[in-house]
Amino acid sequence: MTDSQPPLIEARGLTKRFAGVTALNQVSLAVDQGEVHAVIGENGAGKSTLMKILAGVQPQDEGAILINGEVVSLNSVERAMGHGIALIHQELNLADNLDVGSNIFLGREPTRLGLIDSRQIEAESEKFLEMVGLDISPKTLVGTLTIGVQQMIEIAKALSVNARVLIMDEPTSSLSQLETEELFRVIESLKSQGVTIIYISHRLFEIETIADRVTVLRDGENAGQLTRDQISHEAMVEMMVGRDISQFYARENHQIGETVLSIDRLRTLAWPRHEVNLEVKAGEMVGLAGLVGAGRSEMLRTVFGIDAAVSGSISVNGQKLKNHSCGEAIEMGIAMVPEDRKQEGLILDMGTKDNISLPGLSQNRVGGIFANARQEASDSDLMIKEMRIKTPGDSQPVRYLSGGNQQKVVIGKWLSMNPTVLLLDEPTRGVDIGAKQEIYRLMEGLAEKGVGILFASSEMEEVLSMSDRVIVMHEGCVTGELTREELSEEAIMHLATGGAGTQVKTAAKG
Ligand SMILES: Nc1ncnc2c1ncn2[C@@H]1O[C@H](COP(=O)(O)OP(=O)(O)OP(=O)(O)O)[C@@H](O)[C@H]1O
Ligand SMILES: [Mg+2]
Repeated sequence: MTDSQPPLIEARGLTKRFAGVTALNQVSLAVDQGEVHAVIGENGAGKSTLMKILAGVQPQDEGAILINGEVVSLNSVERAMGHGIALIHQELNLADNLDVGSNIFLGREPTRLGLIDSRQIEAESEKFLEMVGLDISPKTLVGTLTIGVQQMIEIAKALSVNARVLIMDEPTSSLSQLETEELFRVIESLKSQGVTIIYISHRLFEIETIADRVTVLRDGENAGQLTRDQISHEAMVEMMVGRDISQFYARENHQIGETVLSIDRLRTLAWPRHEVNLEVKAGEMVGLAGLVGAGRSEMLRTVFGIDAAVSGSISVNGQKLKNHSCGEAIEMGIAMVPEDRKQEGLILDMGTKDNISLPGLSQNRVGGIFANARQEASDSDLMIKEMRIKTPGDSQPVRYLSGGNQQKVVIGKWLSMNPTVLLLDEPTRGVDIGAKQEIYRLMEGLAEKGVGILFASSEMEEVLSMSDRVIVMHEGCVTGELTREELSEEAIMHLATGGAGTQVKTAAKG
């Protein structure tokens, strides 16, 4: 009997074309009520496009959407919401300057005698906050909350409009491990209340943990489906990529030289009372581990001159930076792949090729390594090919590339110059498994050429497999350092949670 029941929501033969690209070609998806249905695929496979169609953000060119077996038209976000479908975008849409309750009811505030009824907002908000396990006052300003908590508020907001189908597009990409676990608890509890979840992520272990079924997309087409008992890391990778990729990147040993970057008693605006001391040698890959909020991004931003330093000094090849500006950092041979690539790393209306060759120009001038235009063009061609950047043409504005492909462009842009020191903040966030290997290979290639690399990563596997040495931070301080021999997940977590680091006390003094 249950077999004949139609899916709660079904996409049949959806096709979506953009100028020059077929993002979806006859794609189908069937999701049953109360399941956690994962949709996976490489960058540019069409996941976000499919979700936007289901949520009424954009229309399909061909194909139909059915709810409980009946064809519906979802040609606006309101219409989709009316059917109980809500999309939580990867970029959170909350207003920082409003409190939690106002955010939940934004645009549809309950009124009493013509006035906004803030008491009702508060009472109602509390109910939805409780559903997502948040014990905070609806009066809290959203801007003061962590990304993880904001994520939960987005979910509470979706529930407050009676969402029966919650679509989450890469919800964990900016969450810490603890916040991710909390999100999973909320997902489980929503599921037990009959809410259906469509879940997108590049982190396959998350899919293994929570998905009941997986639909795989490849190049805008259905590549297959896996049921609960078929879900495994290997099966997913094979279906997604269609080629064999080993799980871990195996690092080669190589020569480590003199110190190229030294950070001496640096105090950042974020943690002005703590000093950071560290060094990176030529050819060395130093992993920067720590929980979200440990001060790693702030430290890297300060070294690159995005944020001002409170005190302390930064030297490249023994030469001190004088005015701590980005321009000076670049001239001294520091390159940086920032965490927020959309804002800091890309010119969205320029094409891939121009974005990639942009910083290389000034580097070539400063570094005295003159490269001609032809050389640069072929560098960017090579980069687009090597990193498998999916773009209809190298002059297509990067604004229209998929999330993961935009990230590859930023990384490609900095890798194509010849820095002395390369700083990377979460280099593979949102990047698919194949491209990850490419990025690791490129990083390693640079290290081999003698570039000193300092990279912050929240992915344990990445830190463990890529680092010659790991520096762990906790609340603005370096709590310890681990050599390759000392490296283990336990050792990192111990230091990351502030455990027994003798350096904390000394660094915090003053
Ligand atoms: N508005 C648009 N204009 C032009 N092309 C677009 C537009 N939106 C998406 N595309 C293209 O459609 C394809 C699918 O993109 P989509 O964002 O759905 O991928 P994705 O699977 O979500 O990838 P990622 O994992 O990187 O987020 C890509 O080639 C992308 O460049
Ligand atoms: Mg996407």
